[in-house]
Amino acid sequence: SASLHRAERKEICEILITGLARQEYRGYDSAGFGIDGDKTGDVIFYKEVGKVGGLRNRVAESSADLTKSFVSQVSIAHTRWATHGPPSIVNCHPLRSDLKSDFILVHNGIVTNAAALRLVLQNRGYKFESETDTEAVAILTKYVYDSQPDKRITFTELVKTVVKELEGSFAFVFKSKHYPNELVTARRGSPLLIGVKTEKKLKVDFVDVEFAGQESEKTLENLAPTSPGGLLAPPNAGPKILRTQSRAFMSDDGLPQPIEFFVASDAAAIVEHTKRVLYLEDDDIAHIADGELHIHRLRRDKDGTNTPAIRSIETLEIEIAEIMKGKFDHFMQKEIYEQPESVVNTMRGRVNFDSNQITLGGLRQYLPIMRRGRRIVFSACGTSYHSCVATRAIFEELTEIPVSVELASDFLDRKTPIFRDDVCVFLSQSGETADTILSMRYCLERGALCVGVVNTVGSTISRETHCGVHINAGPEVGVASTKAYTSQYIALLMMALQLSEDRISFTERRNQIIAGLHALPGQIKTVLAADPTLKELADGVLVNSRSLLLMGRGYQYATCLEGALKIKEISYMHSEGILAGELKHGPLALIDENMPVIIVMTRDSLYPKVQSAFSQITARKAQPIVICNEGDDGIPQGVKTIRVPQTVDCLQGLLNIIPLQLLSYHLAINKGFDVDFPRNLAKSVTTE
Ligand code: G6P
Repeated sequence: SASLHRAERKEICEILITGLARQEYRGYDSAGFGIDGDKTGDVIFYKEVGKVGGLRNRVAESSADLTKSFVSQVSIAHTRWATHGPPSIVNCHPLRSDLKSDFILVHNGIVTNAAALRLVLQNRGYKFESETDTEAVAILTKYVYDSQPDKRITFTELVKTVVKELEGSFAFVFKSKHYPNELVTARRGSPLLIGVKTEKKLKVDFVDVEFAGQESEKTLENLAPTSPGGLLAPPNAGPKILRTQSRAFMSDDGLPQPIEFFVASDAAAIVEHTKRVLYLEDDDIAHIADGELHIHRLRRDKDGTNTPAIRSIETLEIEIAEIMKGKFDHFMQKEIYEQPESVVNTMRGRVNFDSNQITLGGLRQYLPIMRRGRRIVFSACGTSYHSCVATRAIFEELTEIPVSVELASDFLDRKTPIFRDDVCVFLSQSGETADTILSMRYCLERGALCVGVVNTVGSTISRETHCGVHINAGPEVGVASTKAYTSQYIALLMMALQLSEDRISFTERRNQIIAGLHALPGQIKTVLAADPTLKELADGVLVNSRSLLLMGRGYQYATCLEGALKIKEISYMHSEGILAGELKHGPLALIDENMPVIIVMTRDSLYPKVQSAFSQITARKAQPIVICNEGDDGIPQGVKTIRVPQTVDCLQGLLNIIPLQLLSYHLAINKGFDVDFPRNLAKSVTTE
């Protein structure tokens, strides 16, 4: 945060800690922050291994004068998810360039050429104290600064020079002793937004982008230890302003107004302070000082036109209550229970239950191109991938276009051929998953129509795709995705329904599905009411299981994959989703009286086939738990059942997944695991 208004140190600490706690799902192995010390340019650090909560105690225990107040200040904070180096105080951000903390910074992402930079800098006598890639950037910044003969380089130019040397993905915030009360932030590949808070009305709702400074290409080669030139060469002769910008945040009388800026990876961190935000683009460098925000480009775009030269200030719609747990014990539990409302929010204004019409405004002008597409390719990771598996069949049925479903990482590994007449759909709750973003860029380069289906407004995927659908499920904080799954599922269904609206022969089928969607929220409530039964299962027959197989076919294969993922993610129990059609080709060997199995046997055209899988496993002494429809009397006596209401075949997965979400939740609670912060996992994986 950077501010130009009077604030006490304890207030600043509180803003940082709360902001971190709101973003904790992004990383929770250590957290820290750096704030202004008592003398200009001094920094006080607070760092703690483990979750953010610990930082509060650190502040309370410290000897710093918490009542000291600042008129203008800059402070930076970070919650880490280890990539380079284990969780420890030295590896915790902010990282510093030297013992005097000339430059300190926080970083989200990975700098892939950090090892080479480290070597160069070590050869020049710089000392490293951590194992992080981030520290190489802090030290490189100091090195570039130290190399300037007259030290007259601006903070922005300095960061620009540093960032040009970096490979990989990042969002950085820099703070420096040499530039007190100035903050510079830069992004490439990792999300970054800036919130603006002021009492007065903003005079403009955009910030112009400056194309400042002379163009210079990467100089890493010159940085090699043997070379005398490179960044030791004299600095560029002053910035050349190629486009001027408005003094966006000045008041009418021209005097600085009290103003605070909040830089964050996620709007959740800042929404309690301001709802006015602007999203930075890749290769933007923003400079905040004296109550003003200036945005610069790292380099001019090659064609000079592809990046808009303004960043508009948008008003967020999320409410603070949406990112708080309320009466629930965990975010995941809250999000499971929100599903009767979140599915309605996904459909709101889009499904007309009177006229049986679907209107996805974000796709409207692209529908003809989509209908002409030669094939549809879905690309996603994790739960988002499962929502594609779940809806593939109905998509193919209604559109009669072949659909392929790709795990984004594998899609990239294979360098799949993609053509101009392909329609590529990218599913992502966060809109920031690195593999999914890279697969999107791969398809954009090949000229395919790219469609985003995301939850996070303003995210990279929502901005870079040609068109798309926001699933409007509200912020999802629990690492294990729940309400985003059901909303993504519905978003894809709506897309298939809209694409097929010109096919008279499908009218009846479409109307049946739309009626099913209408009844869905009530049916979800019914399923949620079975929560005590699921707790009983988790605390009873499944309590000591080391493994759990989930079986189903057709529409329910996705339910099994997604259910198994939930169980793995938070209860750390081995669990596998098995296509019942494949049972005989291997998995049957796992079956005996000790192997716990859940079989999804709701009524659809494949019911007889699933019944036969049921017989095959019970013949091998398995005692499966059956997910079946209410009132189904085809299930043998004495078999444990989880009953769910019946709906249209292609919607049944929306109901069937809910008991599995609840089951995984109770299994994890039963084992004492931290449901919202499962070990080794992060909510949004912004590195490849
Ligand atoms: C991570 C999360 C999963 C999520 C996946 C894809 O692995 O832990 O819950 O399903 O990323 O995330 P996305 O934001 O792209 O849907």
